[in-house]
Amino acid sequence: MLKFATLMPEDGETTLPRRQPRASSKDLLVVILAAGQGKRMRSSVPKIFHPLAGEPLIHYPIQLARQLGARTTVVVHAVGQETLLAPLAQGLALVPQHRPLGTGHAVNQVPQALRAPPEVLVLYGDVPLLTLATARRLIQLRRRNDLDCALLVARMSDPTGYGRLVEESNGRVHIVEESEATPGEAAINLVNTGVCCFSGEALWPALRRVKKSSRTGEYYLTDVFETLERRGILPCDEDEAMGVNDRWQLAAAEAVLRRRKNRELAEAGVMIVDPASTYIDYNVTIEPDAVIHPFSFLRGRTSIGSRTRVGPFAEIDDCVVGRDCVIGRSQLTASVIEDGVDIGPFNRLRTGTVIAKRARIGTHAEIKNTLVGPESDIHHFSYLGDAVLGKGVNIGAGTVTANYNGVEKRRTLIGDNAFIGTDSTLVAPVSVGDRAYTAAGSVITDDVPADALAIERSEQREVPKWTQRRRSGPPSPDAGEVGVK
Ligand code: UD1
Ligand code: CA
Repeated sequence: MLKFATLMPEDGETTLPRRQPRASSKDLLVVILAAGQGKRMRSSVPKIFHPLAGEPLIHYPIQLARQLGARTTVVVHAVGQETLLAPLAQGLALVPQHRPLGTGHAVNQVPQALRAPPEVLVLYGDVPLLTLATARRLIQLRRRNDLDCALLVARMSDPTGYGRLVEESNGRVHIVEESEATPGEAAINLVNTGVCCFSGEALWPALRRVKKSSRTGEYYLTDVFETLERRGILPCDEDEAMGVNDRWQLAAAEAVLRRRKNRELAEAGVMIVDPASTYIDYNVTIEPDAVIHPFSFLRGRTSIGSRTRVGPFAEIDDCVVGRDCVIGRSQLTASVIEDGVDIGPFNRLRTGTVIAKRARIGTHAEIKNTLVGPESDIHHFSYLGDAVLGKGVNIGAGTVTANYNGVEKRRTLIGDNAFIGTDSTLVAPVSVGDRAYTAAGSVITDDVPADALAIERSEQREVPKWTQRRRSGPPSPDAGEVGVK
């Protein structure tokens, strides 16, 4: 067990005298370091934009900075990432680091004009699981004891890749990066999370004193820690400390976040039947008494209403799903499902679809950019694209809207209580009036007035005794006509 003269005991309580009153979050500058190259991801996408539980990695420290109510938040980023970052970092300062010369160099990019707040919290763009409660405890620890610096540390079951906290014989502690650690130091499992709260007065001059690492040529922020006098550490959970350097760690972080999310939802009254096989993104909302069956994926900004039953094997992306719905093993994307809708298995709802109240979608339907009116039924094997259906419409099995002529998409309008016969093809642009019928097997190319029946198919004829003739001799000419060999 290490003993740190100037460091905090494990419970986070301080023994140092209180020297200053509580500061407010308005005195806080948050610096998010996000300019690293992320080479270990082996990806053409910069690391901070890789999705974690449906949001880019950088979303998490940005959100934390917002929740902390920092007076100023600076995102230090690599050159060329401004455009992608801008929508995520609205209201924050974006500061480029022209060359990735290390974490110390990155913090030093904060312009003088933004250095006014007396307290600086450094977050890493690739440490996404830190909770608001822990960040607040770290800030409080520094404030209560007027520390130059309070560092968040964690004991990791596998410390590979992290800077280790090494105690010198004189009792001072310093952080040794893995690349520079001796085998003995590498065996230490108490690590630097990177997250650190500084007094501005101590940080900025100390940063100027940091020297280049002779091995890597980088300026390490961790070296600042060594030069400061009044230092403290706060231990946090292993999970919160996780850094994401490669895809394997990204998947591990995703697993932690997923477990947290499922638990939060369960505690709020959502029935997650099997949390281990349920994948719910960070920003999904679900009302109490909804039931999520195994192997369901709820992604993006999806919301699910109370008492709705989802899955098993449902995949829902960016949808608004109402209350009292049933969503079977279907794939729904960017659509709105109103209350009381029943969607069976093997359906695909594509972008821009609205299914109004109490409508029913049976099986094997594909619906795109279509409004299905209330209490309408689409039972089986249909394609509806760019259509508007009124209320109480019946769509027979095998109905297809021919909405695309190879050049442009065209609309199909179907009035209230219309009845579309089985295997109808509706060649858009076309409309079927209220209460009108189309006969089974019809190809409808002209508008059908309200209350009319449209029938478009050749008359049936029978060939008497055809079967006996076929079996007893060479095929008759009639058989050829009906297409039988
Ligand atoms: C860093 C720490 C290590 C700690 C670990 C925790 C240093 C020197 N090492 O190592 O002690 O245990 O995080 O996860 O701080 N960045 C820049 N500009 C740069 C370099 C990095 O903005 O020039 C950013 C990166 O985008 C990243 C963060 O700083 O968000 C950390 O950099 P990274 O290269 O991932 O450091 P680690 O090797 O993980
Ligand atoms: Ca890292």
